Amino acid sequence: MPNTQKNNSFYITTPIYYVNGTPHIGHIYTSLAADILARFHKLCGKNVFFLTGTDEHGLKNQQVAEIEGIPTLDYCTRVSDQFRAALPDFNIHPDRFIRTTEDDHKKAAQALWQMMENNGFIYKDYYKGWYDVREESYVNEEDTTALENGDRIASDNGHILTWMEEESYFFKLSAFEEKLLDLYEKNPNLLKPDYRRNEVIQFIKSGLRDFSISRTSFSWGIPVPGDEKHVMYVWVDALTNYLTALGFPNTESDHFKQFWGSAEHLLGKDILRFHAVYWPAMLMAADIDMPQKIFAHGWLLSDGKKMGKSSGNALDPYHLKETYGLDPLRYCLMREVSFGRDSTLGSEALIARVNSELANDFGNLIQRSCSMIYKNCDAKIPTPGHFTPEDQTLLDQAYGLFDHVKGEIDHYRFHKALELISQLVSNGNKYIDAQAPWALRKTDIKRMETVLYVIVEIIRIAAILLQPVIPETAKNILQQIGVLTETSDDVISFDTLSSRDAIRAGTAILKPTPKFQKVEIEADSA
Ligand code: MSP
Repeated sequence: MPNTQKNNSFYITTPIYYVNGTPHIGHIYTSLAADILARFHKLCGKNVFFLTGTDEHGLKNQQVAEIEGIPTLDYCTRVSDQFRAALPDFNIHPDRFIRTTEDDHKKAAQALWQMMENNGFIYKDYYKGWYDVREESYVNEEDTTALENGDRIASDNGHILTWMEEESYFFKLSAFEEKLLDLYEKNPNLLKPDYRRNEVIQFIKSGLRDFSISRTSFSWGIPVPGDEKHVMYVWVDALTNYLTALGFPNTESDHFKQFWGSAEHLLGKDILRFHAVYWPAMLMAADIDMPQKIFAHGWLLSDGKKMGKSSGNALDPYHLKETYGLDPLRYCLMREVSFGRDSTLGSEALIARVNSELANDFGNLIQRSCSMIYKNCDAKIPTPGHFTPEDQTLLDQAYGLFDHVKGEIDHYRFHKALELISQLVSNGNKYIDAQAPWALRKTDIKRMETVLYVIVEIIRIAAILLQPVIPETAKNILQQIGVLTETSDDVISFDTLSSRDAIRAGTAILKPTPKFQKVEIEADSA
């Protein structure tokens, strides 16, 4: 059943975001990682499909809309539009922004339900229990605490619970214990990082219970096929979005066939169980192939707690963008954080990263070399002479870098990939300091030209590799050194990262302008 089909496609998804709050840096973080992966794989020559969107059903949206006195869909549209509009502000460009209130999604969710039911994995029974409206899930009695006033709260998050008794459809998750364990054993790369995989395996081994997948207590949801007084449990509805976007239930379409086999789901660790237990079981129940990868990243923290709406501690992404600049922010979010782990985004660390790695290291390397070429080489890339072993070592590092960077990106180790590129830039600075082309200008012009040529080649490779992360700045740098024309809005494929496409002598460069601004603010004002 697991799909091993390899093709030249890459399908990347983010979680679809709840519309119970405006986008914060945590949402941008996941979508940004997906955007970077999408851009990276496109530059590798793959066909890419990048999906994100909003998750709009469930009791809480119905309640908020009632309080506001507006139709629930209007409320959802308002917030969904904020999520949609935020993406381009961070240069994030999905191929589809899906809403679970769209018709094709409703059809897809009903079709999936029907397939699971036809295969005998859905049955009707009664559900009684404590319900967490904000989380849209029942809470086991042992995970609740009674308050003096008679209310009960969820022990882990303190949400006040509602007692619910309802006729409900159930999904036979208990039938999938062995199958899921087998799936994870046979596909060690399906769920990453490994420590999350281990957690999930332990959870499955502890026993899986059937779970309720329909509600009759409210109506804001997708009707259960054939029994319209029930609406689907929001997670069954929401997870299906990954199929909807490819045209499901038409699994014979070229679009579906092209992309489903390459699906990679990116998500925060908070929703790992839904993606790593429920979702694969649902797919098995409907005889649908597995995705290629499920990757759970860590949280951005503030004061040791997950940044989020409920804690009110989430950084405003627009403020961060204003403070650091968009590309530096994109760079830092991926460079500062080890993607699987939790991380605190400290302003001091961000400032240090922007100022040292981008402005000082990369910015100065570009500025120093391009200024010299502009002034001393008639603003054209000089013709290099014979390469010395020092030249060749640096060039070889640059030409060999793609494979290493790709190895890191394939494992979602963005910070490592960026570290590798930053090491090349740093070696470029050491090289320029050691070779001192400014001194060679007086003693050995040919050698100066060779050194400047080598440096521009390092800049070219670093800028091409950085395109997915800092797209605007990388374009600007590539225009600066004449790899892109001044007005071009193009990208440069990773095919050109070898010596075969080395920069041509005689290429005109632009008058150098600073590429990165230093951040000059008080450390605690970010
Ligand atoms: N609607 C569900 C997902 C359904 S997917 C079929 C949901 N939505 S959410 O709005 O709560 O978004 C959750 C996702 O936002 C997390 O999985 C994570 O990707 C991202 N993040 C929200 N806060 C975050 C942090 N503080 N840090 C990192 N990512 C965070 O759950």
